[in-house]
Amino acid sequence: MAEPKGNELMDKIVSLCKRRGFIFQSSEIYGGINGFWDYGPLGAELKRNVKELWWRRMTQQRDDIVGLEATIIMHPQIWKASGHVDTFNDPMLDCKTCQGRFRADQIDEIPCPLKPSNSVSQCTGAKTPVRNFNLMFKTNVGPIESADNLAYLRPETAQAIFVQFKNVLETSRQKVPFGIAQVGKAFRNEVTPRNYTFRSREFEQMELEFFIRPDEAVEAIGGIVASGSQPSTLNPQPNWGWEAWHKYWVEARIRFYENIGLPRATLEEYWQKPEELAHYAKACVDILFKFPFGTQELEGIAARSDFDLSQHQRFSGKSMGVFDEELKAAWAKLDETKKTELSQRYFEARFKYLTKMGEPADKAEKQAREDVAGLAKGNYIPHVIEPSAGVDRLILALICNAYAEDQAPDEKGKLESRVVMRFHPRIAPIKVAVFPLLKNRPELLNKAKEVRDLLRPHMTVFYDEAGAIGRRYRRQDEAGTPFGVTIDFDTLGEKPELLNTVTLRDRDSMKQDRIKIDELVPLLLEKIR
Ligand code: GLY
Repeated sequence: MAEPKGNELMDKIVSLCKRRGFIFQSSEIYGGINGFWDYGPLGAELKRNVKELWWRRMTQQRDDIVGLEATIIMHPQIWKASGHVDTFNDPMLDCKTCQGRFRADQIDEIPCPLKPSNSVSQCTGAKTPVRNFNLMFKTNVGPIESADNLAYLRPETAQAIFVQFKNVLETSRQKVPFGIAQVGKAFRNEVTPRNYTFRSREFEQMELEFFIRPDEAVEAIGGIVASGSQPSTLNPQPNWGWEAWHKYWVEARIRFYENIGLPRATLEEYWQKPEELAHYAKACVDILFKFPFGTQELEGIAARSDFDLSQHQRFSGKSMGVFDEELKAAWAKLDETKKTELSQRYFEARFKYLTKMGEPADKAEKQAREDVAGLAKGNYIPHVIEPSAGVDRLILALICNAYAEDQAPDEKGKLESRVVMRFHPRIAPIKVAVFPLLKNRPELLNKAKEVRDLLRPHMTVFYDEAGAIGRRYRRQDEAGTPFGVTIDFDTLGEKPELLNTVTLRDRDSMKQDRIKIDELVPLLLEKIR
């Protein structure tokens, strides 16, 4: 069957998400609220599975990353230091015809509701001038609304990681290179939320800040910094500088996506051009997914230098530096030429950062010289690689990727079209459905409930006894349940040799195998882990 394309496909996906309880409009009974979405029973399970897998892979299955769970509202100075107060803006303008408010950089793509066949950019002379709109949601802490207690809902989870860097370092027995991971809500007052859940005003992020030595420290310790070519291995090496670590994280993150069922062919890497990079960034790669509405970003992986920790050091007055014993010992053994060369490079980088941030040249020079003296004693502010993923857009990508239409036989063997969500078993909301063949036979129901209870401690199980078996299969196909277990008369021993066996149906091939009940748990666990 031909796959639906573009908007038609998106309409089908949106309809399925509502019909099956993946995604609902927030506050729907009051007419909804633009840019906010709720996850229904299936969506909540799917999202939880994805976040748990990210967390497990990032923290529990590694020695060099630890987790953090910080508050959404933090000290407002954080957002001054990070640059969000001054620069986290979208250019905005109004259409004088429809009074609509639009992002100036998307104006060609957004239709003016009063001129359905035209884009607003064609309403010549009917636009206000472009002005900047800060995307942070504001609130007040405490009972008085004043500028003194202004606070923001965090627009990213990353900053909490930077401001808790020293506490984590001191309590976790980690040493650079190491990472801090966080999953949580973030808020952006988007001018034009769009593309279903892709650009929402409330969303979740999965962010890692991976702290590394500055290249000058790597070189002092190891003699050379590994060339920037793609690391041939995902085994980190001591001589990796920022470039190798950056490439490592691009590859590691793509493998994560493959591991949860997004084939590499559905993804694209976009390496930002030098002129597109933030002034402090050394490189940034966007991992894009081919959505039906266009190829769009799932995750950004940025090499952010020591900008973030340096900013918090300047704004808080607290040291964000680390002491690196290995560097101190190695530096003492360097010859004078090498010391001078590395010192000069480090000085230039620090001086550039400080002057860019507005420090007067004399002050910046003095500070940069102190930083170089610190480096020689083993002290530096770590650099960081930041893989930052949007959970909700990933969920949407997984839903779009899973959606398929094919043909399946009905009760009488006649082919009918079926919608099937081909989620990878690792992330599927329900792992297995348990079906008694007939509802009116208590002995089948009892045995099916026994099987349900056997599986339930290990995985999400859906028990369904209502309706014809073919219809029950179809419902689970739409939910994306990869396995179906049917209890029939052979399970009860009608054919004695099949006593205590069930049929195990595979969602994608629709093939059914006869399996001993005793073997179900290990067999299914192997497939869903
Ligand atoms: N921390 C990067 C982002 O939120 O996009």
